Amino acid sequence: MRKPTVTAGTVSSTRAVPGRIARPEYAATGVPGPYKLSCVKVTDGQIARMRKAGGVARKVLDAVLAEVRPGVATDELDRIAHELIVASGGYPSPLNYMGFPKSICTSVNEVVVHGIPDSRVLVEGDIVNCDVTVFYDGMHGDCSETVFVGEVDDAAKKLVRVTWECLMKAIDLVRPGQLLNAIGLVIEAHARENGFGIVREFTGHGIGESFHMSPYIAHFFEPDNTAVMEEGMTFTIEPMINEGVAECIIWPDKWTAVTADLSRSAQFEHTLLVTRNGVEILTGGRDPWFSRGEKSFALK
Ligand code: MF3
Ligand code: CO
Ligand code: CO
Repeated sequence: MRKPTVTAGTVSSTRAVPGRIARPEYAATGVPGPYKLSCVKVTDGQIARMRKAGGVARKVLDAVLAEVRPGVATDELDRIAHELIVASGGYPSPLNYMGFPKSICTSVNEVVVHGIPDSRVLVEGDIVNCDVTVFYDGMHGDCSETVFVGEVDDAAKKLVRVTWECLMKAIDLVRPGQLLNAIGLVIEAHARENGFGIVREFTGHGIGESFHMSPYIAHFFEPDNTAVMEEGMTFTIEPMINEGVAECIIWPDKWTAVTADLSRSAQFEHTLLVTRNGVEILTGGRDPWFSRGEKSFALK
């Protein structure tokens, strides 16, 4: 078994959000409102606001990824994201969500998800997932990418590429009338074919006025889940794929999830809208992630 490459560092003090910025319902208490069962958007106004929230999340994620390099502390990535989100008039959705202490999640190497930005410095050869969620104009937009810190080994490149392919293959089949479990079917097949483990404990989720709502989106095949996609649904797909076993262990901080065998884990996430004919990626950029320059994604 591998040795840990990540240990808990020092978490900086809480970053302030100016009083003029509208906050989600849990911002003061840490407690999200009642779990909503429908993420279907019935008015154009809601969809327009989701587009805006997704656009801000995208812009912030791009800004964060541009700062990933050896020597940068994950807390510095959090600071950059926090400042850009509030300067854009948004609230960083993770901040105090069920007590989460920071504004983004940074998950390095064996950290599967929900890594807390801290004093740990990125080192050459790491892979890091940066997950940005923004509450803007009353809606949440949620996206993440895994990128390379300097040069990484070929196994890391393969893991990251296959994980991205899992997300894109799943997005490709989103349309009204499609079974929700088609997502897990295609992701599980592609990950397995490449010998990787598929995380089961964390799923995609409906999103909108609430950060997390119905439906949950499994990234593995659930034969009995007969729920169907409908026009106007907004949900995330965010597969977490491991080099080794699928199982996770949660640190005593109650957030950081690491792989049980300390193998590396990658993740990509988009917020999606089911349209009349197909799907719109609300957190998509103009360029696909792999063509944004050799810096992060020099895949062979
Ligand atoms: N952005 C994560 C997701 O994709 C959730 C982070 S919740 C937090 O659903 F509290 F850890 F920030
Ligand atoms: Co999400
Ligand atoms: Co996310």
